[in-house]
Amino acid sequence: MSIARIKGFADMFPPDSDQFTRIENTARQVFGRYGFVELRTPLLEFTELFCRSIGEETDVVQKEMYTFPDRKGRSLTLRPEATAGVMRAYIESGLTNREPVSRLFTTGPMFRYERPQKGRMRQFHQINCECLGSHSPMADAELVSMLLRFLSDLGLTDLTLKINSLGCSECRPKFKAALLEYLAGVDKDALCPDCARRVETNPLRVLDCKQPGCRAITDNAPKLIDYNCPECRAHFDTVLELLQGQGLSFELDHRLVRGLDYYCRTTFEVVSGSIGAQAAVAGGGRYDGLVKSLGGPDVPGVGFACGMERLALMMGEGSGQAADFYLVAMDAQSRAQGWQLAQKLRDAGLTGEMNFSEGGFKSLMRQAGKSGAGHCLIIGPDEAAQGTVVVKNLESGEQCSVPQSGVLQFLQTGTNND
Ligand code: HAM
Repeated sequence: MSIARIKGFADMFPPDSDQFTRIENTARQVFGRYGFVELRTPLLEFTELFCRSIGEETDVVQKEMYTFPDRKGRSLTLRPEATAGVMRAYIESGLTNREPVSRLFTTGPMFRYERPQKGRMRQFHQINCECLGSHSPMADAELVSMLLRFLSDLGLTDLTLKINSLGCSECRPKFKAALLEYLAGVDKDALCPDCARRVETNPLRVLDCKQPGCRAITDNAPKLIDYNCPECRAHFDTVLELLQGQGLSFELDHRLVRGLDYYCRTTFEVVSGSIGAQAAVAGGGRYDGLVKSLGGPDVPGVGFACGMERLALMMGEGSGQAADFYLVAMDAQSRAQGWQLAQKLRDAGLTGEMNFSEGGFKSLMRQAGKSGAGHCLIIGPDEAAQGTVVVKNLESGEQCSVPQSGVLQFLQTGTNND
């Protein structure tokens, strides 16, 4: 019996893998322009790192982590997100002493034990950016506008930027108290079971529950920004002004509290109108106390992550890069010449493959057609004897005989001077 892949984990063939390559290449180009450098962190970390950063009471830590003991009984977890590992690496490497502002991006697989559905996987991939070392609202605005530039360079449209401010450790407790007072006055039985529990453990998350019953209850709940202290409010207003100054539009979303505990002040998400229920393609925010809470210095930070599967869904099928040639060689002598010719064409930067197997002319031509290449190069006994190739345009069906020495020029320019 063959072995199947694990539910929620995907193999990725072209065109999906081509799309991922395009997403990563675009990310490197765009983020590089803003001074971001790439950091690669391990997939496995000590479980405590995630409990302390993401928060014990979050859904991610409570229900979604792949956690197991290693052979010495230490608790390890497959990273459910990148930020915690980036913070650990930032502290451990001493980067904090070497540069005032660090801009780090990282990309790769993350693991969350969620119910798989369209746009939601148990192994999924993020592109993650963190800007460490600045309290300035310019850092928040630069990051958001960089994210939008990246999404637009991918050709994505139908996106909404949602933004909110969670306040700080001074003003958020006042909001929390007001929210709890409000929730004390509502009919608890009308809340979903998760929210009934969240009222006790993580009341802010009642605000972003998608259940219609919970939404109706929280429609008139207090709003975070009304409780922002003057410093938080001024910070948020400047972020919004900077975004407006760049002509970027956004929606203030009073329900946007995010699912991870480390956030303060600015939080944001980018939501797509075209990929169904799992609509958040990116999310992030400021996390000023996180580095300190993990044992590092008191360094502020702001960051975001994009879900690559969701970006790929928005990009649609797309076409991969077509090969330039498929070389069909009919017998041993043709194959020897074809082998040399294919190598010469690749050395010159063209892409293509040749048949390894012997076979009937028709079946080899079918393989050439299926390859999606632009041209089929045919060498049979006659061509091998004359040092020529039949070049067939697989789109138009036109064909002509070209000396082997002129094939490169013919494919590059469409002309044959020999
Ligand atoms: P997050 O909102 O949990 O934030 O995830 C960011 C993005 O990852 C989501 O908007 C979504 O596109 C994608 N995503 C999350 N879970 C799944 C899943 N199961 N399947 C497919 N895609 C998924 C974070 O992870 C924060 N660490 C972001 C951040 C960086 N904040 C500051 N710095």
